[in-house]
Amino acid sequence: MSSTIEPVLDPFALARTLSGKQLIDGQLVAPRSGRTFDVVNPATQETVGQAAWGDEADVAAAVAAAVKAQREWAKRPARERGKLVAECGRILDAHKEEIARLVTLETGKALRTESRVEAGVLSDAFTFFGGLAPELKGETVPFNPAMLTMTVREPIGVVGAIIPWNVPLLLMALKIAPAMVAGNAVVVKSAEEAPFAVLRACQLMQTVLPPGLLNILSGMGPECGAPLVAHPKVGKVTFTGSVETGKIVYKTAADKLIPVTLELGGKSPMIVMGDADVDKAVAGAVAGMRFTRQGQSCTASSRIFVHADVHDDFVAKLKAKVDAMVMGDPLDEATDIGAIVSRQQYDKVLNYIRIGEESPGATVLKCSALPADPKLGKGLFVQPALLVDIPRDSAPAREEIFGPVACLFRFTEYEDAIQAANDTEYGLAATIWTRDLKTAMDAVHRLEAGFVQVNQNLVVQPNLSYGGVKASGLGKEATLESMLEHFTHKKTIIINMG
Ligand code: NAI
Ligand code: MG
Repeated sequence: MSSTIEPVLDPFALARTLSGKQLIDGQLVAPRSGRTFDVVNPATQETVGQAAWGDEADVAAAVAAAVKAQREWAKRPARERGKLVAECGRILDAHKEEIARLVTLETGKALRTESRVEAGVLSDAFTFFGGLAPELKGETVPFNPAMLTMTVREPIGVVGAIIPWNVPLLLMALKIAPAMVAGNAVVVKSAEEAPFAVLRACQLMQTVLPPGLLNILSGMGPECGAPLVAHPKVGKVTFTGSVETGKIVYKTAADKLIPVTLELGGKSPMIVMGDADVDKAVAGAVAGMRFTRQGQSCTASSRIFVHADVHDDFVAKLKAKVDAMVMGDPLDEATDIGAIVSRQQYDKVLNYIRIGEESPGATVLKCSALPADPKLGKGLFVQPALLVDIPRDSAPAREEIFGPVACLFRFTEYEDAIQAANDTEYGLAATIWTRDLKTAMDAVHRLEAGFVQVNQNLVVQPNLSYGGVKASGLGKEATLESMLEHFTHKKTIIINMG
């Protein structure tokens, strides 16, 4: 099977084409209210299109379509479902350049360093979960020789998926691919800031999926996300976003007694021991802080504890490395660092930098240079900032900034670094940099996080369990186990043959 939709490499044209549309029951349709809201290019502040302003009426239509489609979908053999989901991966792969350009336009992430990477791994999630379809197996239970006792995995029904704007395509894929393979239908609510690339991805997948199986709405959280969570026919909600909104979602789900998966924020520590390879650790800090994504990552290594023996060397090298990065037009191939996604995030980030500047004892090192191009004069660009020696109890050191701001702390005792690393409400990711195996082994067990790495800082990928402890969330994503646990329920069947 091949896609009948030709790639559109001009993201401006594509944004206009998708304006005012949602995908419901296999069709691109306007919202019931007829209302739209502007989608803005963060690099110029120019409006690039209008997103459908979905609300409760659209949620009702999408869920009704999903309920209908799910009944038939669940009857198909799991391997057939898996094959179609894997086929979605193939189609998305063939369209990855246009998807990368579109997500660049709406989020301000740089095309070369970020969006192409995201669009490249997008298809992996569909290929990976599609291939796991035969693993939707049950067990036989040695209960009584005269009875056949077994378990089967059944789909939940309709899954509501609420996604953020920072890595919208991949985070959507990690939810909808396993949900669909497991036999569920899905209604996605995209983030206000990034509605188009995910809509385009769903439109492309629609060329192979049955109508109504995958629906995507756009709109405001309280008006479109909240009724999706509250809808009586939605049997499971999977959410990625802020702790604050995650709690609202959880409370509504509690009232309905339905399961939720929550992937929330982080304030992830990075510990650099005195014996670490400083150059590798500096490269790991640049990657871990996601400076190329303006630091807009839930796993950002935003609290960096550096042993006093190597601290000054580490800071100087880190600054030099970030200074060498080019901030500019996200669509430009030369650009390493793009713009902050929205005015709200921009103001929030600048406020934390200002607090850093006013904090006693702290030194704020601003890196790289704002773009000189007058076309980008109104763009939401922020110089990456290193808040060196920032007090550990200050707001920038404790709260999730979700911007290009790293807090650096000096330590001399390993115990102190471990305790400080764990002294946070969050627990998403952590890294330690050392040549000493004993220290590394001790740290990986003691660091309170869902994803711990030694001497490297890789990003999430299919088959690696992903998700936090403490306030960073509930439940894991990206693995076979997550598909079984979060998108099926286990039914016990006993057949008495006596
Ligand atoms: P948010 O959590 O408010 O938004 C995430 C998604 O939830 C969006 O689709 C939004 O429309 C939806 N939403 C909002 N209110 C809702 C409600 N009452 N019911 C159902 N859905 C609702 O995050 P936002 O406002 O984009 O960013 C605020 C902060 O959250 C950021 O500064 C960052 O610290 C954190 N964040 C963390 C992310 C992560 O990957 N863990 C992703 C995005 C933001
Ligand atoms: Mg919000």
